[in-house]
Amino acid sequence: MSNEIESILTENRVFPPFDNLVQGAAISGMDGYRAMCNEADANPDEFWARLARENLVWNKPFTQVLDESEAPFYRWFGDGELNVSANCLDKHLGTPTANKTALIFESDDGKVTKVTYKELHARVCEFANGIKALGHKTGERAIIYMPMSIEAVVAMQACARLGIIHSVVFGGFSSKSLHERTVDVGASLVITADEQVRGGKTIPLKNAVDEALGMGGCEAVSHVIVYKRTGGQVAWSEGRDVWMHDATANQASQCEPVALSAEHPLFILYTSGSTGKPKGVQHASGGFLLWSLLTVNWTFDAKDSDVFWCTADVGWVTGHTYITYGPLAAGLTQVVFEGVPTYPTVGRFWDMIQRHKVTVFYTAPTAIRSLTKAAEASPSHHPREYDLSSLRIIGSVGEPINPEAWMWYYKNVGGERCPVLDTWWQTETGAHMITPLPGVTPLKPGSCTLPLPGIAAAVVDEAGEEVEQGKGGFLVIKRPWPGMIRTIWGDPERFKKSYFPPELKGYYLAGDGAQRDKDNYFWIMGRIDDVLNVSGHRLGTMEVESALVAHDLVAEAAVVGRPDATTGEAVVAFVVLNQSLPEGEEADHIAKQLRDWVAREIGPIAKPKDIRFGENLPKTRSGKIMRRLLRVVAKGEQVTQDVSTLENPAILDQLSQAH
Ligand code: PRX
Repeated sequence: MSNEIESILTENRVFPPFDNLVQGAAISGMDGYRAMCNEADANPDEFWARLARENLVWNKPFTQVLDESEAPFYRWFGDGELNVSANCLDKHLGTPTANKTALIFESDDGKVTKVTYKELHARVCEFANGIKALGHKTGERAIIYMPMSIEAVVAMQACARLGIIHSVVFGGFSSKSLHERTVDVGASLVITADEQVRGGKTIPLKNAVDEALGMGGCEAVSHVIVYKRTGGQVAWSEGRDVWMHDATANQASQCEPVALSAEHPLFILYTSGSTGKPKGVQHASGGFLLWSLLTVNWTFDAKDSDVFWCTADVGWVTGHTYITYGPLAAGLTQVVFEGVPTYPTVGRFWDMIQRHKVTVFYTAPTAIRSLTKAAEASPSHHPREYDLSSLRIIGSVGEPINPEAWMWYYKNVGGERCPVLDTWWQTETGAHMITPLPGVTPLKPGSCTLPLPGIAAAVVDEAGEEVEQGKGGFLVIKRPWPGMIRTIWGDPERFKKSYFPPELKGYYLAGDGAQRDKDNYFWIMGRIDDVLNVSGHRLGTMEVESALVAHDLVAEAAVVGRPDATTGEAVVAFVVLNQSLPEGEEADHIAKQLRDWVAREIGPIAKPKDIRFGENLPKTRSGKIMRRLLRVVAKGEQVTQDVSTLENPAILDQLSQAH
């Protein structure tokens, strides 16, 4: 039984909202929430138009709200013009926010650098002018492969200012993954750093860029701009490579933001799907900006006095929405962290909350679960040893949070004073979709509770009919919303097929299973496709399989997920080699070789935790791999299902041997 199902059957604790948060909240009390939901349901176009007019600065006002003429390729505010960077930075100039700290950057080794909104604006302008001076223009694509840094935020904002579409690649991805994305977006510019520093170790980035560009097909890349983070050795390609500090030297600290259609793509971010090739999720400028700003205001109930800290990396959507765009558009002070939660001690997060007086803290269940264990093993770094009284809201994202982790977080980090916001959303949704609100929603550990106003979430069966409370089904969104994915870059057919299957009445199919309880609360049951969630990172089983079969020794591979107490799910690979079945040390040796290979092909996050060798894989007589059975074997359970349709039932015993 999975954690989530278990939690539904046994979980009946309810935590009402705290009075101090209800008072003065952006959305106050259940009545306030219902009123907004009713406004949205009564006339969605008017609701979104009102919010877009009230919250965004437009160069040219829109006259059309939602254009459904080419559904499911929805367009929002399409004839309006704005600039996202101007909405995050210029908007604050001439207001008291200009001199407020925008970013508190803390490096891996604890050095703190602060920039105000005015300074950030100047740095973004200088860099945008530098990019322009190299000849890059609106509509081109830039790959950003950078460590967590002020410079990464500057790079993304500078692209947005010029209408250059960025595609950030997580620094933990391999050169091969970087190459694949660079080719797919047709990048003309790469922005990177010499090296990154995490947990006291340096990891080369520029080298990986050189390797990726050397793999062919990236001839469109005319410049590689390099932020000097460590001063480590790098190779240099004259004419192509430019230091970031040289690109910005002598550039003016003013750069006119380009007025762009609200539908101009802001970014493309790759995420895993159920085939081997990651999908380039394309987001639009106006709708994404609106949705990231609104959710910062609603979910986190943003206040001018807040110190906001989202621990995600800008390589993931959470870092886009809740670091680079939403909090800046809301004028918040935020912490940006280069390092890892366990360095130099496992109390790093708690120490940083204490020192920076963080008020809103947003992290992933995986971090909470591993820090729970670490705190128990190292009592002097337990959160109770730190002053966390500045916190007022704590959030969770990326995977289901099991009730045990929820309770630990609630008690030990939130001091039983802060709501735990279990926010459900996806790369494709742009921002939060189903989440508790701090001044509104009674909490149930393990449930992401209720949809935000304007979000028509439902649980349906194969025919798109809503299922009864307590019954499982597909999580769908019945009406479009401004922050939604616009298409898959270069593959509109895959977009339609993946998200709007015809049998579901034109609803957006999230790819998650869910059910609603008697209070209509949503409980997410995990993916319904071949996508795994390892430490909150999405991984396609086919991606890992393709990487494995690309190794000379591998004839065939099947990858499944197994529940894991720390990482949520773990990758288990069943492998058939091109040689006789290995045993003992030889098997260990090959398993290690294959793990390292996957790390090189995709990135260390995709490394199988467990590799099992067999002479073949369990297949039906028509040759289909029985993944259902492999999942049972991966968990170390006895197969009780009917195996009579299997070509080779004996193989299950062989595959039960772990390495
Ligand atoms: O399965 C859901 C899970 O993460 C998937 C989205 O992954 P990604 O696009 O990488 O975005 C992660 C950051 C938003 C979803 O389809 N997921 C995300 N949040 C939750 C969740 N599962 C359960 N509860 C959540 N709060």
